[in-house]
Amino acid sequence: MTTLLEFKQVSKQYGADTRALSNVNFTVKQGEFVSIIGPSGAGKSTLLRCINRMIDASGGEIMFEDSNIMGLNKRGLKQLRSQIGMVFQHYNLVDRLSVIENVLHGRLGYKSTLEGVLGLYSKEEKRRAYTILKTLGLEEQIYKRCDQLSGGQKQRVGIARALVQDPKMLLCDEPIASLDPNASIIIMNHLRDICTTMGITVIVNLHQVEVALKYSDRILGVNKGSVIYDGPPAGIKREQLTRIYGSEIEEHIGELEKQHAG
Ligand SMILES: Nc1ncnc2c1ncn2[C@@H]1O[C@H](COP(=O)(O)OP(=O)(O)OP(=O)(O)O)[C@@H](O)[C@H]1O
Ligand SMILES: [Mg+2]
Repeated sequence: MTTLLEFKQVSKQYGADTRALSNVNFTVKQGEFVSIIGPSGAGKSTLLRCINRMIDASGGEIMFEDSNIMGLNKRGLKQLRSQIGMVFQHYNLVDRLSVIENVLHGRLGYKSTLEGVLGLYSKEEKRRAYTILKTLGLEEQIYKRCDQLSGGQKQRVGIARALVQDPKMLLCDEPIASLDPNASIIIMNHLRDICTTMGITVIVNLHQVEVALKYSDRILGVNKGSVIYDGPPAGIKREQLTRIYGSEIEEHIGELEKQHAG
């Protein structure tokens, strides 16, 4: 498998005294499903957001395909972002717009400002949006306003908006943190399916260890801005969890034991 993304000695400093990432190194192959786990404040969101330059790293190199994204100009950045879809904890939808309108917003990266403002989408784009919504089980909600949807439905709209971009990679920052267990399973199954059947690389920040272990090809465990673990889910034992989570450990071990008992 070819390498899609590579972090080389990446660091991120906020202001004078917060070092959110220090010397982070890892690679992600095309088609991989990678979860990032770690305690609150470890740097998970910062790491994810450096990949599409929502946040600018302070040092190192971030290679996406063959270019260092830290050096991209405005045009290059627009191109990069059209190839990377983002899924958010709080969905980031426009509530007063319909499902299909929100999904079509995923195409804005390919349009001029004028086309975007006028909402000029081709028949092909609308057809594609419809197909994706159908795949995600939302064909009956297409003309509904987004504020009439459940959380799980909203997140599926968020995923559809990312997919209509035709991305190579999806970045998901706590995609299930606001959802109940059933809706969470539906979302994780869709993300796994998107990775396996569409070949789209998925990187997801999760605070539920057991979910990360179940769905991922690989886990990155982060603590205080450093990658402490980089390997398969099977290599995560109590010792690794202790190193990743420090004092929060008992909570996560509790979750795991519940899962194994049940
Ligand atoms: N915009 C910012 N300005 C200053 N400090 C920030 C900013 N964003 C994050 N930080 C700090 O950087 C560190 C990493 O934050 P980050 O949000 O990446 O952690 P996280 O692992 O995503 O945490 P959580 O699990 O709570 O979402 C924290 O110490 C945080 O306080
Ligand atoms: Mg976060």
